[in-house]
Amino acid sequence: MKVAILFDAGSDEWSPQDVAAVVANVHEVRDVLRRRGHEVELLPVRFGDFRWLSRVRRADLVFNLCEGINGHARFEDFVVGTLELTGVPFTGCRTWPTSVCHRKHVANTLLSSAGLPVPAYMLAQANKTPSEFPLPAIVKPAAEDASVGIDNGAVCTSKRALKKRVAQMLEQFEEVLVQEYIAGREFNVGFVGKRMLPIAEIRFDTLPDGTWPIVSYAAKWIPGSPEDEGTIPICPAELESDLANNIAGVARSAWEHLSDGEGYGRVDMRLSEDGQPYVLEVNPSPDLSSNAGLARMGRAFGWGYDDLVMQIVDEALTRSQSHRAAAALVSGVSAA
Ligand SMILES: Nc1ncnc2c1ncn2[C@@H]1O[C@H](COP(=O)(O)OP(=O)(O)O)[C@@H](O)[C@H]1O
Ligand SMILES: [Mg+2]
Repeated sequence: MKVAILFDAGSDEWSPQDVAAVVANVHEVRDVLRRRGHEVELLPVRFGDFRWLSRVRRADLVFNLCEGINGHARFEDFVVGTLELTGVPFTGCRTWPTSVCHRKHVANTLLSSAGLPVPAYMLAQANKTPSEFPLPAIVKPAAEDASVGIDNGAVCTSKRALKKRVAQMLEQFEEVLVQEYIAGREFNVGFVGKRMLPIAEIRFDTLPDGTWPIVSYAAKWIPGSPEDEGTIPICPAELESDLANNIAGVARSAWEHLSDGEGYGRVDMRLSEDGQPYVLEVNPSPDLSSNAGLARMGRAFGWGYDDLVMQIVDEALTRSQSHRAAAALVSGVSAA
């Protein structure tokens, strides 16, 4: 099979580490596909340059690792939308979940209107700090991911601190979400298609005193920082079975509600003090690096990295076949 791997070519603002992280994962996936005997072409995507599109149209499958264009995440949706129009099978989520989940307030609205537990939230507006909002509250950018904008000051315990934080965040981000802080344990649940992987827990037991138990930017991106060292993923999580079933049920409903169970993704959750699981966010097509969360969950399920990549390929091919069959059925009905 001819497989085209799509990835963001980045921008001048990217550090050498940013470039290296993207390229490392592209190479990991390329190596798996080659080991399985596929012909692989690497296609960097740049703004205003459509050469990748003509190459994609000659591929049997696109492995889409493009998380944006020129480093702008909002363009990820457009790449996926363009892939849908080509009719070439592609890995990962379709346009709808990609677009919706990039705006946390939109995703939260859809999840809560489907009856799923989402912490109380509101979009912040300049000079209109919510005076009745339950505290503590966390302030986070509505349209970013990977813990961008989240540090120890994100959790606010007083109205004054909340007002200040909202003002600061609105200077940097267009849309800012204020959300009820959910104090209990944190879990991630991964999916490939409709298949659920073992639940992972993020443990914060060894964070320094005075640090909120959250996955901050430093925890995610500054190796060796106290936040990184105090944020430990454990997979599978140690959970008694009722709680595991409860978490799994909420995660599956959230995932299938937003993605239709297509592509691959990760649902981030926390438990309230009374043990109710809440959905923080659904991540369509999350980081696929061999040292990231999804690969860890895959390993706990018994999949090596190669297996995970090939399961994602299978899901893309099977999905494309069933969409084609459905389209043929519809055109047959309308021609009759
Ligand atoms: N409502 C909340 N209550 C408690 N912690 C939260 C809440 N929202 C976010 N967090 C913390 O911030 C981290 C990042 O938030 P998340 O909504 O997952 O955004 P992203 O991962 O896209 O940056 C979470 O992993 C969690 O530790
Ligand atoms: Mg998250």
